[in-house]
Amino acid sequence: MAITIAISGKGGSGKTTLAAMIIRSLLAQGSNGAVLAVDADPNSCLGLTCGVRPAATIAEIREEVLERPESRAGMDRVRSFEYGIQQAITEAKGFDLLTMGRPEGPGCYCAANNLLRKFLDKLSSQYQYVIIDNEAGMEHLSRRTTNNVDLLCIVAEPTALGVVTTKRIFELAKQLPISVKEIGVIWNNTVPIENRKSKIENCQLETFGSVPYDKAVFDASMQGKTVFDLEENSPAFSAVRKILEYKLNLRSF
Ligand SMILES: Nc1ncnc2c1ncn2[C@@H]1O[C@H](COP(=O)(O)OP(=O)(O)O)[C@@H](O)[C@H]1O
Ligand SMILES: [Mg+2]
Repeated sequence: MAITIAISGKGGSGKTTLAAMIIRSLLAQGSNGAVLAVDADPNSCLGLTCGVRPAATIAEIREEVLERPESRAGMDRVRSFEYGIQQAITEAKGFDLLTMGRPEGPGCYCAANNLLRKFLDKLSSQYQYVIIDNEAGMEHLSRRTTNNVDLLCIVAEPTALGVVTTKRIFELAKQLPISVKEIGVIWNNTVPIENRKSKIENCQLETFGSVPYDKAVFDASMQGKTVFDLEENSPAFSAVRKILEYKLNLRSF
């Protein structure tokens, strides 16, 4: 079974950026072909941040399958869905990308999510690592796109507000019917630190690590470049690699 790393946090806290850096770090230490990146944010950005264009989204496939005539047996739908998900897996530079997308129009997420969960668990066995970039909040987890998470990383600004959000997400995570082995915070500075006072003393959660503000990261996103274009020694990327070395016992790289 793969090691599943889920990234959560407020919008704009740096989830997608850090997810992409985690993917790049895993590839850099020799996990080519063994990483599945799941973009579980309906406002899909992980592909862009990694420089990959998704083949199709799961939302598109779900709609296609569900629009088929009712006369088809349930089994057919399940199989069509499974086949569709295989088609939606985009082979990128050394890793695979699966993009959830946004369902068009009203409709219940539940049925599709049940299928997704089933297939994601099945898919996970084919990879060494599954990295899930989530939408803001925990709704995706309560809809349960996955059953098991090894590392739940809450990404937050090291501010009083960041601490409040982090605690909220932690409380929600505890109530969900998913198994989470370890949960902790990655304090990410999306603005230069001198602009504010750091206020994280009263957060009782484990800190997985801190990522400094890195102008090159911000500039790259402004210029439409990807996390893979950053220098090896970019301070933010180096910090993410350190966190993985520490949390996953990866060799230094
Ligand atoms: N450590 C960092 N240093 C500088 N800019 C950052 C850093 N982390 C994230 N950013 C920038 O902050 C913005 C929001 O990041 P993003 O990963 O899209 O957040 P989220 O996925 O949580 O909504 C992006 O422009 C990104 O480039
Ligand atoms: Mg994002």
